[in-house]
Amino acid sequence: MTKVLIATDKPFAAIAVKGIRQEVENAGMELVLLEKYTEKKQLVEAVKEVDALIIRSDIIDAEVLNAAQQLKIVVRAGAGYDNIDLNAATACGVCVMNTPGQNSNAVAELVFGLLVYGVRGYFGGASGTELKDKKLGILAYGNVGRNVARIAKGFGMDIYAFDPYTPAQIIENDGVKAVASVEDLFRTCAIVSLHIPATEETKNSINYPLLSLMPKGAIVVNTARKEVVDESALARILEERQDFKYLSDVKPGIDAELAAKYPDRYFATPKKVGAQTAEANINAGIAAAKQIVDFIRNGNIQFKVNESV
Ligand code: 3PG
Repeated sequence: MTKVLIATDKPFAAIAVKGIRQEVENAGMELVLLEKYTEKKQLVEAVKEVDALIIRSDIIDAEVLNAAQQLKIVVRAGAGYDNIDLNAATACGVCVMNTPGQNSNAVAELVFGLLVYGVRGYFGGASGTELKDKKLGILAYGNVGRNVARIAKGFGMDIYAFDPYTPAQIIENDGVKAVASVEDLFRTCAIVSLHIPATEETKNSINYPLLSLMPKGAIVVNTARKEVVDESALARILEERQDFKYLSDVKPGIDAELAAKYPDRYFATPKKVGAQTAEANINAGIAAAKQIVDFIRNGNIQFKVNESV
């Protein structure tokens, strides 16, 4: 019988697991669960006899893939797949997919949670500012970026976006101003929300020259990946500019150090929680299960992200 493993160190909501189970069992497959594991060896052991794997930010490297002798498909229930060694997967003949868009509203809503928290001085009682009429820059107009724009309209913000891969007309059709370069975005907007994936091209791309362009009262919101921000540049700009704030929901980097040094201008969620809602878990988890069933039964590779063997 085809075995599908859910391996999540940060578990899905129980209702999402129930939905995944239904999809898998209705297809005549077996569901195996490894949640809240604490050591890699538990994952390496669990993948040994499974045909398909559903993960979140769990690290799937060559060691895990080599241990998974029967594995045919890994689906990252979410958007970013920088946690998976794609070359190793291709070498092992394993198909890798993501579930684009399924958790993007959850992440976009958190952007505004962080922003309101930040502009209201972490609810400490001091007089803060409002978001209405402020210029918001959205870096990358993908699924999360679009949801951020939609919500920002409700706040009455003046919205700008830059995305080298999305035609300006598509951005403008949403009532968002498309700018010509990333520099223009940072130069124009005091609030910038990052929605770029972590790739070789984007790693450390939010650097000192870019951050320096931001107008007074600058706020960078990072619900994407810590790797896209040059942390030494961030430390430098926080040191130099008393008006600069950084609000993040990414895996820890130099958080403890910066949070201790700039308690009123640097905030990081204790755990990455952007996609941690029942709805996002259900949407992404069930999409992952459906994609696995469709791949195993029909060979559908619509959401494949790695090279073919
Ligand atoms: C994603 O890439 O989909 C988000 O960063 C969510 O990650 P998570 O599933 O680990 O919460």
